[in-house]
Amino acid sequence: MDLGIKDRVALVAASSKGLGRAIAFGLSREGAKVVICARNRERLFKTRDDITSETGHEVKAFIADVTDREQVNQMVERIIDEFGTIHILVCNAGGPRSGMAEEFSPSDYRAALDLNLMSTIILCYEVMPHMKKQKWGRIINMTSISAKQPIDNLILSNTSRAGITGFSKSLSNQLAPLGISVNSVCPGYINTERVDNLAKSFEASGEGTVKDFYSNIEKAIPLGKLGTPEEIAHAVTFLASEGAGYITGVALQVDGGFIKGLY
Ligand SMILES: NC(=O)c1ccc[n+]([C@@H]2O[C@H](COP(=O)([O-])OP(=O)(O)OC[C@H]3O[C@@H](n4cnc5c(N)ncnc54)[C@H](OP(=O)(O)O)[C@@H]3O)[C@@H](O)[C@H]2O)c1
Repeated sequence: MDLGIKDRVALVAASSKGLGRAIAFGLSREGAKVVICARNRERLFKTRDDITSETGHEVKAFIADVTDREQVNQMVERIIDEFGTIHILVCNAGGPRSGMAEEFSPSDYRAALDLNLMSTIILCYEVMPHMKKQKWGRIINMTSISAKQPIDNLILSNTSRAGITGFSKSLSNQLAPLGISVNSVCPGYINTERVDNLAKSFEASGEGTVKDFYSNIEKAIPLGKLGTPEEIAHAVTFLASEGAGYITGVALQVDGGFIKGLY
């Protein structure tokens, strides 16, 4: 199947490792001109070089903190100078700390909202005008299964992801007449450093071992295993494709069946 992604300009935010990195790889394999960003220079440039050497396609890397509107604005301006536009935007960021309500103060919620919800809003506002001009765009906002089924011990994530779902759905209605789709992707438990860190926090809290953490999760997933970053990348790449143009306003869980509800 030709996904129609070749030569599209794709900005994948927060993409030097984990899910963002796999998504950048996925889009580059389809021939997109991919732009990646993160804060740590060394890991970012290594990822850029890894992608280019495997796919043979051009990849640009920008050091940028996605919570900082000024830095996002400068990055987007440089992409426009270089490539003329942006066709595909994947809004991603790091994950907020794990913990229960009593462990956090209101300022922790503000930081979590800045990291996930506000970074998504900032990226969309910077990129939307260019998509509107060309009457074509694909926006994919990365959230989590916690947007659909709150996860114990992840109250910051549960709170901020719900906001992204509401923002994505509202924006999808407004941008549909302009040929721009807006969807969110809700990863389940995926084999990444982030989940490894959650496993270590579980052990540190005295609830069980790292091994217990993984075996509890595997039991709760009908497919019986964690996902891979590539499995998330496949879903995002499809939503970014020409053929996915009639899909908008969806929050797609990619979770091995973890979510127990109907929607
Ligand atoms: N892994 C999972 O199973 C899973 C499941 C559901 C949802 N999620 C969510 O999906 C997102 C990505 O998860 P992941 O597992 O890929 O995380 P990860 O392995 O920790 O990678 C996060 C990436 O984002 C970059 N980053 C973090 N904060 C940033 C910022 N403020 N500005 C720019 N770049 C930033 C990091 O690089 P720098 O640190 O160098 O900036 C890194 O490249 C997170 O929000 C996570 O909560 C993950």
